[in-house]
Parts: sequence; structure tokens; C-alpha cells
Amino acid sequence: MHNRMMITGAGSGLGREIALRWAREGWQLALSDVNEAGLQETLRLVREAGGDGFVQRCDVRDYSQLTALAQACEEKLGGIDVIVNNAGVASGGFFSELQLEDWDWQIAINLMGVVKGCKAFLPLLEQSKGTIINIASMAALMQGPAMSNYNVAKAGVLALSESLLAELREQEVRVHVVCPSFFQTNLLDSFRGPTPAMKAQVGKLLESSPISAADIADYIFQRVAEGEFMILPHEQGRMAWQLKQQNPQLLYNEMASMAEKMRAKARQGRGGE
Ligand SMILES: NC(=O)c1ccc[n+]([C@@H]2O[C@H](COP(=O)([O-])OP(=O)(O)OC[C@H]3O[C@@H](n4cnc5c(N)ncnc54)[C@H](O)[C@@H]3O)[C@@H](O)[C@H]2O)c1
Repeated sequence: MHNRMMITGAGSGLGREIALRWAREGWQLALSDVNEAGLQETLRLVREAGGDGFVQRCDVRDYSQLTALAQACEEKLGGIDVIVNNAGVASGGFFSELQLEDWDWQIAINLMGVVKGCKAFLPLLEQSKGTIINIASMAALMQGPAMSNYNVAKAGVLALSESLLAELREQEVRVHVVCPSFFQTNLLDSFRGPTPAMKAQVGKLLESSPISAADIADYIFQRVAEGEFMILPHEQGRMAWQLKQQNPQLLYNEMASMAEKMRAKARQGRGGE
């Protein structure tokens, strides 16, 4: 029976909602995050929803913490059936202004965190013939302006997922990658970038989502059950991706116009230059 799931970044936002969606089916959850208060709250809600499990602090930048988590899953749950590499942070800023440190930070969490999660749990997943769910973003497909480090990290998560899809078929380990557009969570709290005004712009985008983190968790639940590899929860995202596949140049032009508008706005904010 498949009923044990590990989630990174489970103390908030989408990670918490995924925990609750699977808890409603009676699953055992291994909940990890760097936010321990958030984790305790998620576990309380998981139990209310009909699931159970345990919490463990885990920074996805540290491989030894991920292998320790895998060991805890083996000891406490006897193994794992599904892992969700969800932990992530937000960033923004034009390439010319981003520091190399901004790149290192973004890649270490949003990309290498997922690589390390997959690697640490692979032996357990091979045993259970389990499932990997990686949380990427529409940024993996659309590359909006002033977020190049985030775009690259998420495109990396997509490429990793495609690589694993091919490599792990023989071991019967299933792979899914989720690419949501913006939606409202606490993601902005982690925002890092050279231009503070950009944080407010990202905030507006998060607020603009027609669907919630709970809706997205439910959509993931359904699509995983159907065996869909690339999961695009936003209707608008599905349309944009279709458009890009048909006519990529149209999208590149659109992104370039957006970049020009954002630059003009930033110049205005600085009183013109
Ligand atoms: N909210 C959006 O608009 C949006 C859109 C597309 C993709 N995503 C992705 O969804 C995932 C979940 O984000 P969210 O929107 O729920 O944000 P959130 O900030 O509410 O939740 C992210 C969680 O990850 C944790 N985290 C951050 N750094 C960590 C680290 N080094 N180790 C372990 N945990 C860490 C945070 O403590 C937090 O609890 C992220 O990968 C994000 O990039 C979000």
C-alpha cells in the first residue's frame, strides 16, 4: 500500500496544502522545513484532516540533513512512497543588477535543494517503486523578465525531472513536475533582490491568482493519480505554454516589451535618470 509522503518546505504555503490534501486520504506525512513553528502547525492540521506523521527540521541546502531525513523516514515509517521537493525562495532583479551571491543563494535552494532531495531519497524510492513530485514553476517554461536566477533554477528543476523521468522508468520510479503561475502564499517573505520596489511588484502578482494553494494541491493530487508528467495548474499557464510551443518568438517579444515597461517604471521610481 502506498501511503507515506515526504515534503520539503511543508511549514507554509503549497507544501502545507499538499500535506493536507494527502492527509485527507489518511496518509503518513514526513514534514520538513527550516520553519519549525510552521511545521508544528502543519502537523496539527494534518492530524485534524485525518493523517498523521512527524516533523523534522531540514535545510535543503545541506545534503546530510536530507539523508538524515531519509533515515528518519525509514525508521519511523518503514520507508517512503512519494517525495515532494517543494521548498523554495523568491527572487527578482534585472540580470545587470543581480549579484553573483544572489545566484548562488537561489541555485543552492531552488535547484540544488531538489537535486539533493532526489538523490537522498532515491534508494528508498527504488525500494518502494515510489514517486517524485518536483515543484518547479511557470518560470521554468516562460522566463519572465527581472527574475533570471529564479528562471534558471526552475528550468533546471524541469530538466532534472525530465532526465529522471527517462532514467528511472526501468526502476519503476514515477516522476512529476509541477509548474504553477503565481499564487498567494508566504513566498514573498523570502524575497531577495537588488531592487526593493520589485518585491511589491511580485506581491501584486501573487495576489492576482484566480486559484489558491489549496486548489493547486488538489489539482496536483488529481493529475498525479492520472499519471500526468508535466502538471500546469493555472488555466492561463496552460494557454501560454501552448502559445509558446506554437510561436516562441511571439512570447520572446512579449517578454522584451514587459522588460522595457518594467525598466521604465523602475526609472520613474528613481525619479528618472
Ligand atoms: N507562490 C507562487 O506564486 C509560486 C509560483 C510557482 C512556484 N512556486 C513554488 O512553490 C514552492 C512553495 O512555495 P510557496 O509559494 O508555498 O512559498 P512559502 O514561502 O509559503 O513556502 C515555502 C517554504 O519553503 C521553506 N524553505 C525555504 N528555504 C528553505 C530551505 N533552504 N530548506 C528548507 N525549507 C526551506 C520556507 O520556510 C517555507 O515554509 C516553491 O518551490 C516556489 O518556488 C510558488
